[in-house]
Amino acid sequence: MNRKVLVTGADGFIGSHLTQLLLAEGYDVRALSYYNSFNNNGWLEDIPAVGNLEIVSGDVRDSDFCRAISRDCSTVFHLAALIAIPYSYLAPDSYVDTNIRGTLNMCQAARDCGVERIIVTSTSEVYGTAQYVPIDELHPRQPQSPYSATKIGADAIAQSFYNAFDLPLVIARPFNTYGPRQSARAIIPTIITQIANGAREIKVGDLTPTRDFNFVEDTARGFIALARTPGIEGQNFNISTGTEISMAETLDTIARLMGSEVRYVVDPQRLRPSKSEVRRLCGNSEKMRKATGWSPRYSLEDGLTATIEWFTREENLSKYKWQEYNR
Ligand SMILES: NC(=O)c1ccc[n+]([C@@H]2O[C@H](COP(=O)([O-])OP(=O)(O)OC[C@H]3O[C@@H](n4cnc5c(N)ncnc54)[C@H](O)[C@@H]3O)[C@@H](O)[C@H]2O)c1
Repeated sequence: MNRKVLVTGADGFIGSHLTQLLLAEGYDVRALSYYNSFNNNGWLEDIPAVGNLEIVSGDVRDSDFCRAISRDCSTVFHLAALIAIPYSYLAPDSYVDTNIRGTLNMCQAARDCGVERIIVTSTSEVYGTAQYVPIDELHPRQPQSPYSATKIGADAIAQSFYNAFDLPLVIARPFNTYGPRQSARAIIPTIITQIANGAREIKVGDLTPTRDFNFVEDTARGFIALARTPGIEGQNFNISTGTEISMAETLDTIARLMGSEVRYVVDPQRLRPSKSEVRRLCGNSEKMRKATGWSPRYSLEDGLTATIEWFTREENLSKYKWQEYNR
């Protein structure tokens, strides 16, 4: 990788950590923040002011804009997306536009600008409920939500650009990622923010599904490893720990780490339609480990401890509307 890189979705949870890590490693980062009239750059507002950061504001649905921001970048990390599953039930059109057309625009821009590598971000949600574990990259795709369907579509568009035009792309497929700055629509921040605000009856959805949780720094390191490894173009890679834990066990672990005795109450609006709920996810990252040398550094307990420490600081906790269901 030469020094100038572009990160889309840099204003978001994973993108802000990736941007921070790239800056710490000496890269010049052009960071895309989703345009809004408040001149607010999301989580980029919270990252330490070190290194050479250029923030641009715009929209990946705009193809000319995508081309303009990709110019003179050696590497593009494309993370911008609509990602909430419940909101995808309400607004599937927006998901098609942002996730599929946005990825098409970024692939076209990378091709036009002669980018040396583009990392396209997929998700473990494309696999749906595991038909076998651990899930490897050959597992069938099952679109159990409009979100998942649009990510399957985005992966396919990206893959077609490799096959048809030799676009030097790699698909990163993180399993559930957690850590500081995550939206409260995700299970771990939902629980931590409720407990931290003194609630003793914690509102939850279905506690039986299992997940493979990755700490955000490990996920961000995975993206950089995929950008730096030569000879892996056209391939997709799981970023996962290979461990599996139910929602109920996750919540018990958080309550124990926070020294809190709580009761869980199922809030019906947090339940998903039964065919849409992904019941089991546990990833096989052998391909990633062998190709890039990457492996996760954080155990779940270590990652949760760091996450709780961040969320329970008043300046962070006050940003979350813990009493509301966050789609
Ligand atoms: N969080 C997870 O557990 C997880 C797991 C697997 C994959 N992913 C993928 O990782 C990527 C980042 O997810 P995240 O968890 O950081 O979510 P996030 O919502 O925090 O980040 C996504 C960012 O994309 C931006 N965005 C949305 N629409 C846009 C548009 N039209 N133009 C420009 N920017 C736009 C948003 O402002 C947001 O900050 C996504 O592609 C997501 O599908 C996330």
